[in-house]
Amino acid sequence: MKVIRKADELRAWSAEQRAAGLTLGFVPTMGALHDGHLSLVARARENNDAVAVSVFVNPTQFNNPDDLKTYPRTEEADLAKLKAAGVDVAFVPTVEEMYPEPDTRVFELGPVAEVMEGKMRPGHFNGVAQVVSRLFVMVNPTHAYFGEKDFQQIAVIRKMVDLEGGFGGLQIVDVPIKREADGLAMSSRNVRLTPELRAVAPGIYKALQAGVEYARNHSVEETTEYVVNQINTIDGLETEYFQIVDGKTCQPISDWSESEMPVGCVTVFAGDVRLIDNIKFTPTC
Ligand code: PAF
Repeated sequence: MKVIRKADELRAWSAEQRAAGLTLGFVPTMGALHDGHLSLVARARENNDAVAVSVFVNPTQFNNPDDLKTYPRTEEADLAKLKAAGVDVAFVPTVEEMYPEPDTRVFELGPVAEVMEGKMRPGHFNGVAQVVSRLFVMVNPTHAYFGEKDFQQIAVIRKMVDLEGGFGGLQIVDVPIKREADGLAMSSRNVRLTPELRAVAPGIYKALQAGVEYARNHSVEETTEYVVNQINTIDGLETEYFQIVDGKTCQPISDWSESEMPVGCVTVFAGDVRLIDNIKFTPTC
């Protein structure tokens, strides 16, 4: 595996792959890699001739400076995992390499970026669009892989790809959430949970699953209230929001008939660790 730190070197490597007619799978990450990331890498490896992974903690998508400061950074371990996973190139740039000049672009992402994470974390999705669009230009992949844990992020990235003209037919591939044996969605933030909070955190997914059952004979509003109560009765957990939205537009629905693929998206504070999860509902009501 090549470790590349310079954008020019990455562009040259990518150009060689594309000139040879190879498919190029790309997995953007912020490092602190876990099996969730590695499931994206495995999909990219299975489906492409060449695979590149970026490891870059992008400052422009953090609206909370403490969150940026405490974000786990584990470069050496990350590179070992990527090598073992058969990755061809790990791209590990510095902030200066990614942003030689400040990125002042504002993306017109529209309603998909205005709800849930967009509302709670102003500027977050614009920062994601900035870094991912830069990475797409540098890597020039044929396929890019994103985890469904960040459900809304995938919709936002699809919108950004549209706005930017498609990046030469780039395919965005979504990969199902990878969970720990007890159901907790894998996340780089899980390492920050105290043993007590780690023990109760699987209650989030249990509440989502119970919500899907409950929804069989309850309204969207009743189900929303039920899931929030299920989570908030667990000591140490506090729901920030739970919203049932249409899976394509990410817009809230008020009746099951409004969506062919309703998705319940939640963020929960476990102490000061902000966890995110979601579940698909089958509209049967
Ligand atoms: O999902 C993430 O880890 C980040 O938002 C991403 C897509 C790597 C951009 O920094």
